[in-house]
Order: sequence, then structure tokens, then C-alpha cells
Amino acid sequence: MATRIHIFDTTLRDGEQSPGASLNVEEKLEIARQLERLGVDVIEAGFPVSSPGDFQAVQAISRLIKNCTVCGLTRAVPKDIDVAAEALKPAVRPRIHTGLGVSDSHLQHKLKMSREQAMERGVAAVKHARKYVEDVEYFLEDSGRADRDYLCRVMEAVIKAGATVINIPDTTGYTTPEEYGALIRYVREHVPNADKATISVHCHDDLGMAVANSLAGVLNGARQVECTMNGIGERAGNTSLEEVVMAMRTRRDVYDCETGIVTQELYKTSRMVSASTGILVQPNKAIVGANAFAHSSGIHQDGVLKERTTYEIIDPRDVGILESKIILTARSGRAALKHRLGELGYEYNEAMIDKIYVRFLEVADLKKEVYDEDLEILAADETSAVHQTYELLQVQVSCGERVIPTATVRVRDAQGRELIDSCHGTGPVDAVYRAINRIVNVENSLIEFNIQAVTQGIDALADVTIRIQRGNDIYTGRGANTDIVVASARAYMHALNKLIDRVTPSAADRETAGAV
Ligand code: KIV
Ligand code: ZN
Repeated sequence: MATRIHIFDTTLRDGEQSPGASLNVEEKLEIARQLERLGVDVIEAGFPVSSPGDFQAVQAISRLIKNCTVCGLTRAVPKDIDVAAEALKPAVRPRIHTGLGVSDSHLQHKLKMSREQAMERGVAAVKHARKYVEDVEYFLEDSGRADRDYLCRVMEAVIKAGATVINIPDTTGYTTPEEYGALIRYVREHVPNADKATISVHCHDDLGMAVANSLAGVLNGARQVECTMNGIGERAGNTSLEEVVMAMRTRRDVYDCETGIVTQELYKTSRMVSASTGILVQPNKAIVGANAFAHSSGIHQDGVLKERTTYEIIDPRDVGILESKIILTARSGRAALKHRLGELGYEYNEAMIDKIYVRFLEVADLKKEVYDEDLEILAADETSAVHQTYELLQVQVSCGERVIPTATVRVRDAQGRELIDSCHGTGPVDAVYRAINRIVNVENSLIEFNIQAVTQGIDALADVTIRIQRGNDIYTGRGANTDIVVASARAYMHALNKLIDRVTPSAADRETAGAV
């Protein structure tokens, strides 16, 4: 019998810590629903004390999800744990994930505590969390650089206090696979009560070794892998879920283990996470990149046509990549649209379907054939636009050879007033952004602008992703339209609405617990 490895998905927590990746509650619910279909064992839904938005998201996900454990992150402080327990109350299987640094670097510089004080704090946190839930995971932050014997002592103490899962994070992505595998083996062999808890691996990709390190952990006895879709996360990101799962599945001869992941849902989940976070998947990304199953050299094409396995170790259908089908046209009705969106993982109420249907018809009139990729972008565009302080109503530009690019925009504000302004710029997009700035008037700088065609062909939808910065905060915006200037305007409005949402006085009052 192959060993069962639990998949702990932290896309909505560590993944959301990627700069500019913040998601609204509706987007998080949509991703959580898809993660449940994907078959993950645990969804880390957020860090409830960090903001009211995170609290609401964890609570809403706890109400929605029935087949996975729902987990909330906390620092090792009673208030965080109380707030997390409240958010997780509706969950069928709640888990509190608490913990503290264990490396001398974290103890001295960040926590300013002695080893003994930190251990006492950790034990108290676990005991406090166990008053609320039976399932308590303890993270030993920066385990990759910690003194092993201290690590073992803390692990023994928190298991004794009631921790059911022990997370050994390589927080800084410092270790090599050999070192990390040996660390997992060491704690298993030196902590007397190690068999009373599940050992979990949580690796970061600073040296590009997160997946390899996690697999080394599995080979040495870890039974839970923490990962994110597309490998997104703090700095260089986390272990990529699709890569670690497909490595274990494809090389079962090496790892001799299995997961509960429905691999045919991987591609869909990857697309959804990319569409909502605005973090594009690099074309050569393993498993889900656009080129992962593309063969360009003549010799390879010849081989694959004769026998797929000559150059393919994974059947693309096993990860849910099907040949793109032309499915909908301007003659398709609301029901057909709703049905196809459902198949793609987007479940919407009637009001939302109505909104998307209007956008769909505009696209179908211009393009004739609407592909799955178009629908995904329209769906993401509408879901992310739920909280709009400013709504873009009209964009008009004049540009060309020997013309001063000039734009006029019409916008509706939160009080329902329609505001119009115009401006010129170095190009049509610059002119539109300047005209919007004259109305909205919030300081920011544009740090990234990315445009890509969603499908092939001159009539393709343009998908624009931008990032704007204010202070240390980065906000991502995404917009889609057959007109690239309108798509750009929508992306800017989207990012600005997120920024405004964050800096309004009510939002400024929010308690921020700071990054863990
Ligand atoms: O990388 C890390 O150490 C973490 C912990 C908070 C689990 O994300
Ligand atoms: Zn992490």
C-alpha cells in the first residue's frame, strides 16, 4: 500500500502574501471551492487577526467547505488564537495553525526572546488553541537555520501540549534537498513523541529547491506537504502544488506514495488562481505552463506523433489540459454560458451570470467564437470588480500618426455622481491613465504593465495586468476587453479601487498584525 500524503494548500494565505496578489472575499471563496474539487486535504484560508477582510474570508470559507480541513494562521498570542477560533467556528473540520521562530536569528533579532521564553510561549499557545479545536498545527519558523537540538526540544514540548501536526518550515529557502531530508529524519529519530504528530514540510523557493526539498522531506517521513498553486507566495514563492503532486504520481516507483488530488482539476485551478491574483504563469512552467506540453522541434514532433510517450512523461489530459474547444457563440443563451462557466469551476448566482452574459455578448458579437480562456478572463474580471468605489463608464481616445494622444473618461463615484475629464499623454494608455488620475486623484506609481492576447487571432481579447505602488504596498489590477485601451483602463481602475479600499479611513483603522 502506498503511503498517503496530505496536501495542505496555502494559496490563500502564504500565496496571497505575494506582492500585489491580494484577493477579495468572493475571489477567495471561488478558489476555495475549486481547491475542494481539486481534493486538497487542508485549505489554509488566511490569517484572521490580520484584517477584517481576512477574518471574513476565513469565516465564509469555513461555512462553505465541507470536505477539507479549514485552517487559520495565528501568531503564538492568545488574541490571535481567539480571533482565529471565532472565524473557524462554522468549519466542519477546523485547524488552528500557530507557532513561533526557532532559529537564533529569529529569537534574537525578531522576537527578542530567550530560547526558554519562546518555548514557554509556544507551549502556552498550543494549550490555548486546544481549548477551541482538537486539531492544532505548530510551525517552528525558520527551522532550516535552527539549532537542531533546540528544535527537537520545542517539538517534543508542543506535541506534549497537544499539537497534532508539526510544521518544519524552511522559511528562507536556504536548505538543500539533502540537508532538508536529513533534518526531517533527524527530528523523527530524536524527538521521543514524534510519532504522536504528523510531520509537515513547508518550503520556500529562494534557491529554486522548494519542490525538491519537500520531496526529500517525504522520502524521510513527512506526511503532509504545504504548497500553493503555481508556487506563488512570499518572495520567490512556495512549493508548487501541481509539481510536487505530479512528481509523486509520475515517479511512484521512487516515492511510493499517493495523494487525494484529482489531477484532472490541476490546470483549471492554476488558471483560476492566475486570473484572480494577476500573477501570470511563465510559459515554461512545469505541468501548467503554456509550453509544458508543446513540442517545437521537428524530431520531437515526429516522435510524439508516432508515440506520445517518446517525449511526454505525463499525459496532458491527466492534468486537465484538453484541446481548446470553440464552445459558445453570440447565439448561445444564458443557460449555456452558466453551464460552461460551471464546468470551468465558476459557480455564480443569477445576478452575476447576468453581468457576465452582457460582457459575453459584447465579446461574442466581435469575435464570433468565444473560447474557455475568454470566459475565464471575463469571469475573473467581473469577480474582482465586486467592490468598486469608482466605476468606469466610458473611455474615448484619439491617437495616431501626428496626433496628440488624448483621452476622455467618464466615471461614476460611490455617491452615484458621473465625473468626466480629459487629458493628453505620450500614448493612448498614458492619456487614459492621466485622465483617470485627474478624477480619482490618489497618489501612486505604475510599476508594471503587461498585456497579452488571451487566445490567438486578431480578434482576441486583450488581457492587461498592471501593478501600482503606494508606499510599500503594491496593488494588482486586471482588465479584459477586445479593445486594448479599454482593457488597460479597466485594469487601472481595478488596481485603484483596491488601493482606495485599503486607504479609506475605515480601512486604516484595521488592526494589522504584520507579516508572520
Ligand atoms: O514560511 C513560514 O515559515 C511560514 C510559517 C508562518 C508557517 O509561512
Ligand atoms: Zn511560508
